[in-house]
Amino acid sequence: MASFQERYGPWAVVAGASEGIGASFSRRLAGRGLNLVLLARRAGRLEELASELRTKHGVEVKTQSLDLGATNLLEGLKKATADLDVGLAIYNAAYSPIGRFLDVRLEDHFDVINVNVRGPLVVSHYFGQRLAARGRGGLILMSSMSGYQGTAMVANYAATKAYDTILAEGLWYELQEQGIDVLACVAGATLTPSFEQSTDRTPSSWLARPMQPDEVTGQALRDLGQQPTGVSGRRNRFGATLLGRILPRRAAIRMVSKETEHMYR
Ligand SMILES: NC(=O)c1ccc[n+]([C@@H]2O[C@H](COP(=O)([O-])OP(=O)(O)OC[C@H]3O[C@@H](n4cnc5c(N)ncnc54)[C@H](OP(=O)(O)O)[C@@H]3O)[C@@H](O)[C@H]2O)c1
Repeated sequence: MASFQERYGPWAVVAGASEGIGASFSRRLAGRGLNLVLLARRAGRLEELASELRTKHGVEVKTQSLDLGATNLLEGLKKATADLDVGLAIYNAAYSPIGRFLDVRLEDHFDVINVNVRGPLVVSHYFGQRLAARGRGGLILMSSMSGYQGTAMVANYAATKAYDTILAEGLWYELQEQGIDVLACVAGATLTPSFEQSTDRTPSSWLARPMQPDEVTGQALRDLGQQPTGVSGRRNRFGATLLGRILPRRAAIRMVSKETEHMYR
């Protein structure tokens, strides 16, 4: 059986790598001997992480500052990776303005679509073609428990996360015959800088208790190649069963929306 490095190396691309879950993926992959292309907007952050990974793991790391929601994303990806043998692509970045749907500007809603829908679509198509041509590799799209049902205060973000999960699941089936493993990594609340900046409240339900980024990424790399969807952690898996299979839909929407209102209102 091929090793992790043979299957998903020699290069991995992490889109949204400068902090939180993306930085954790990058550290784990460098620890497994993969060379990395780190993408995000903040060049300084990316370079700090790159330097840490080169020193600690002796891998090659390239960085590229780009906006994953921009219309010229495809050109940016080509420029950053065209000459590299990429075996794994991870789309981690997301944009989530918090507030009642009508209070968020329409322009911001479009930015959510660009970063959370257009970005993963471009990355999946571009690297999907490249991975198919070499006959092996992996693709991970970060998704969210909020994508399992409508969720107040983040209604548009939640809808884009449903897209991410469903896109990854379709590709899991379709691309497996070309040797590509695809995973939707469905995280619940996770203690990333974005999450911590968004609220100073603690969840009212034990079900929404946050995980650490390293727990989420460790499980995702174990799930890759095993299943189409990996819900992070036991509490979230129980939550997914409760919300998706046990509760009536309106009760699930109400339960998650009340928790989100508690956190953000
Ligand atoms: N944290 C949670 O509680 C939670 C829960 C469920 C699911 N998730 C999912 O997990 C993923 C990561 O979430 P996160 O909390 O770590 O933070 P995040 O705010 O979604 O993004 C983290 C990374 O993405 C980059 N990024 C964001 N927008 C970008 C853009 N337009 N262009 C380029 N890079 C961009 C950020 O770097 P720069 O700012 O330097 O560009 C950063 O490196 C997301 O897909 C999210 O939906 C998170």
